[in-house]
Amino acid sequence: MNTTQTECRYANRVRTLRPSCVREIMKAAASRDVISFAGGLPNPRLFPVDAIAEAAARVLKDHGSAALQYSSSEGYAPLREYVAETCLRRRGIRASADDILLTSGSQQALDLVGKVFIEPGDAVLMESPAYLSAIQAFELYQPRFVPVRLNRDGLDPYLLAERLERWSPKLVYLVPNFQNPTGVSYSGENRCAIAHLLRMHDTVLVEDDPYRELRFEGEDLPPVYRYADQHAVLTGTFSKVLSPALRMGWVYTCADTLRHMVVAKQASDLCSSDLTQRILYECLTRFDLERHVAALCREYRRQRDRMLHWIRTLFPDGTRYTRPQGGMFIWVTLPGNVSAEELLTATVKRGVVFAPGRSFYPGRPELNTLRLNFTHADDVEMEKGMNILAQEIRALTG
Ligand SMILES: Cc1ncc(COP(=O)(O)O)c(C=O)c1O
Repeated sequence: MNTTQTECRYANRVRTLRPSCVREIMKAAASRDVISFAGGLPNPRLFPVDAIAEAAARVLKDHGSAALQYSSSEGYAPLREYVAETCLRRRGIRASADDILLTSGSQQALDLVGKVFIEPGDAVLMESPAYLSAIQAFELYQPRFVPVRLNRDGLDPYLLAERLERWSPKLVYLVPNFQNPTGVSYSGENRCAIAHLLRMHDTVLVEDDPYRELRFEGEDLPPVYRYADQHAVLTGTFSKVLSPALRMGWVYTCADTLRHMVVAKQASDLCSSDLTQRILYECLTRFDLERHVAALCREYRRQRDRMLHWIRTLFPDGTRYTRPQGGMFIWVTLPGNVSAEELLTATVKRGVVFAPGRSFYPGRPELNTLRLNFTHADDVEMEKGMNILAQEIRALTG
């Protein structure tokens, strides 16, 4: 069969799909000795390998074949209970296991949101810039994205009000804690202002909260969900506090939406791995997660400070950058018309990768922007990589 014959059989929705530039860059980086600031990778030196190994051995010994069977689509009941009692309670929300759906990473939660809510042409309001893989997950359902610019302390309420009025979006997707890609955290006032505006519109709030636990400065703030008085979905993950390889995320929402999401999940993968869910639960009940997260936060703060130091001392005047209070990313705006993609072409040749800003924009991109991850590279790699980046930026700025 030739390519043209095959092409015409694809669904319209895949024709415009683009691969995630970050995953492509990471794939290229994995095969070589590359310094990567590209992905949202946790520090590999801090994975609790022994605790997970012990938990896995114990589950197989104590649960035997029960852990190797298909299981419920909603997820392992004790783990749902843990999410309700611990993850939601920490966010100031009272919930029970019945309100929780466990997903294969919070990425699956985003896909299920798309499946359950988005019709072709529906307006979906997104931060600008936004989490790249949310754009990708929703794009499959052919929405019309409505971008709202992100400021230092969250979304501009005037712009948000105007977009809500004009577009009546079906969904509003927000990452208020240490947003990916910018590292921006919405202020308390901004959260209240947003909730107030959303309350006046018939829209579904989708709040994605993978980085909440990784706060190393400032005080915890409640999710927008807590102030909102409407149809809403809140999602979180164990990827950033334990390991992304577990692929375990969760969703909290109303009974009706949960029921639809469970059915959509059945169509996707029947159920998440029961073995992994039991290992995770075992790990959470025996391992001191709070102490581990405190250690992560100490180290990530130090790594953030080092990266900020290199930006301040090496990058040209006129460079703007965020100073995140948690999470994993710094967002950089280069002076003048420097193209981050051109910059990447130059740095790849010297073994350094990062994520150019273009793909993070649901609307018109700002091409002189880039996302830097500060948690993955070690100190030596970071110093070397940041020097190479700075040299190539200077070569392009002339
Ligand atoms: C904002 C945001 N949402 C969701 C995810 C997906 O996380 P996971 O599928 O590993 O739970 C990520 C991962 O980087 C993220 O940054």
